[in-house]
Amino acid sequence: MNNGKMITLTVNGRSEDIQVPAHRTLLEALRDLGHIEVKRGCEKGDCGACAVLVDDIAIDSCLTLAWTCEDVKITTVSGLGNAENPHPLQSAFVDLGAVQCGFCSPGMIVAAVGLLNEKPDPTEDDIRLALSGNLCRCTGYTKIFDAVKHAALVMSAEGAKP
Ligand code: FES
Ligand code: FES
Repeated sequence: MNNGKMITLTVNGRSEDIQVPAHRTLLEALRDLGHIEVKRGCEKGDCGACAVLVDDIAIDSCLTLAWTCEDVKITTVSGLGNAENPHPLQSAFVDLGAVQCGFCSPGMIVAAVGLLNEKPDPTEDDIRLALSGNLCRCTGYTKIFDAVKHAALVMSAEGAKP
């Protein structure tokens, strides 16, 4: 049986080794490494639950092969901040009531950070487009859009890098 090859992923600033077959997705590899904050949803690029940042760009980890990610910086929602030192977007989600379930929120926050990395002053349309791949059928998106706008203002005022 071919167990693939040993690769090194850089996740949230730490190097982690894992043996992966050629077909193992980044989503599967991250979860095998214990990064269960990266959620497994549709596994076909439809829901956005598995979003991570690769070199500061939001991607669906279920559509990415793990072995292609050896030379990039991977950031999960846990790498953005924590309860003691949250990312401005994480704070905005809490403060503006945008946090939904633990399944969709990580991907929403990662996708929003990816947007602000690219466009620190996004329009409403930019935000809607950036989050269009993150699905939740449970509630509305209004508070989420408000939280992204709020975080953009806070970060701009603070001169913070996303
Ligand atoms: S699990 Fe990757 S987009 Fe749904
Ligand atoms: S999928 Fe998370 S609240 Fe709807």
